[in-house]
Amino acid sequence: MKGLILSGGKGTRLRPITHTSAKQLVPVANKPVLFYGLEAMAAAGIVEVGIIVAPETGGEIRETTGDGSRFGLRITYIEQARPLGLAHAVLTAEPFLGEEPFVMYLGDNLLQGGIVELVAAFREHRPEALILLTPVPDPENYGVAELKDGRVVRLAEKPARPATDLALVGVYMFTPAIHDAARAITPSARGELEITDAIQHLVDSDRRVEPHVVVGWWKDTGRLDDMLEANRLVLDRVDGRVQGELVDSSCHGRVVVEPGARLERCTVRGPAIIGAGARLVDCYVGPYTAIGEDCTIERAEVEHSILLAGSSVTGLEGRMESSLLGRNVRIGRGAGQPRAYRFMVGDNSEIGIL
Ligand code: TTP
Repeated sequence: MKGLILSGGKGTRLRPITHTSAKQLVPVANKPVLFYGLEAMAAAGIVEVGIIVAPETGGEIRETTGDGSRFGLRITYIEQARPLGLAHAVLTAEPFLGEEPFVMYLGDNLLQGGIVELVAAFREHRPEALILLTPVPDPENYGVAELKDGRVVRLAEKPARPATDLALVGVYMFTPAIHDAARAITPSARGELEITDAIQHLVDSDRRVEPHVVVGWWKDTGRLDDMLEANRLVLDRVDGRVQGELVDSSCHGRVVVEPGARLERCTVRGPAIIGAGARLVDCYVGPYTAIGEDCTIERAEVEHSILLAGSSVTGLEGRMESSLLGRNVRIGRGAGQPRAYRFMVGDNSEIGIL
């Protein structure tokens, strides 16, 4: 069995971060989202993994992820020239996948329970496709599955009147039959070859499509709020470990301080993680905060936020919260006159002031 991770796409909902970087590399608890999927594959005994990448971000993903040996995987990178849909990504990967069954995992998704059980169910029942489902309070915002006698009978993409509350989670298992199904469909109204249409095609051709309801949480990190929520859920399970230097500082609850980080006169209330080489002085770091490598925080309070490597926050009067800072972002108090707000921000940035 092979693995296919989809890490192309446009990432419009996570701009401006995605103007310069792949959303699948945004860290959750200081580890790129994509790595969680790769680890889940390895844990399920999969070795051959293809990663779909976009031309713009493929280089960065390749550089960060490497040949896969550190995960116990062999990774093949597959460039998708344009983001024409999940089923298009499957077709792009067909030469790599060949005649093998495979598990497909959306590179910006996180699944608490991993995929071990799912792979076992697929091997045991041998359906043509196995889709993961989870009950959600707002099924109208998702792909929704209708079941009958333990089988999937209908899939609907964001239906106005959902037949069930079972949303499709971004992990699927397929036999090679999906390739012909993906070839048989036409682009949707948004111009994409939809994987839900390809699966519906399997159902309509009397192929067996099985549901598997997940236990534990699932998160699609495509939007800021979901990214912060994923960070919260993962940090909720970290074990505390202080390896950096604490000077007149205290950590409460589960806090990770990586080697080479230095905290002076700081209070950290976990769960939180402070990356290697970070410098924190006279500050408060609150729950559900992940501070990347080599960040600086001085005379400021930060909570429920993700800071990517090299960013700095200094001299804030109010607490910063529910924020996502890209790499090398600087937020600080200007000393010059006239006293004014001074910004230099990229396209699609969002700033909320007190
Ligand atoms: P989405 O989040 O549905 O799409 P997107 O990345 O284009 O984001 P947005 O809607 O904000 O513009 O994609 C889910 C995952 O699949 C994500 O990791 C990107 C990947 N993907 C591909 O690899 N190829 C594709 O053609 C598409 C549409 C998505």
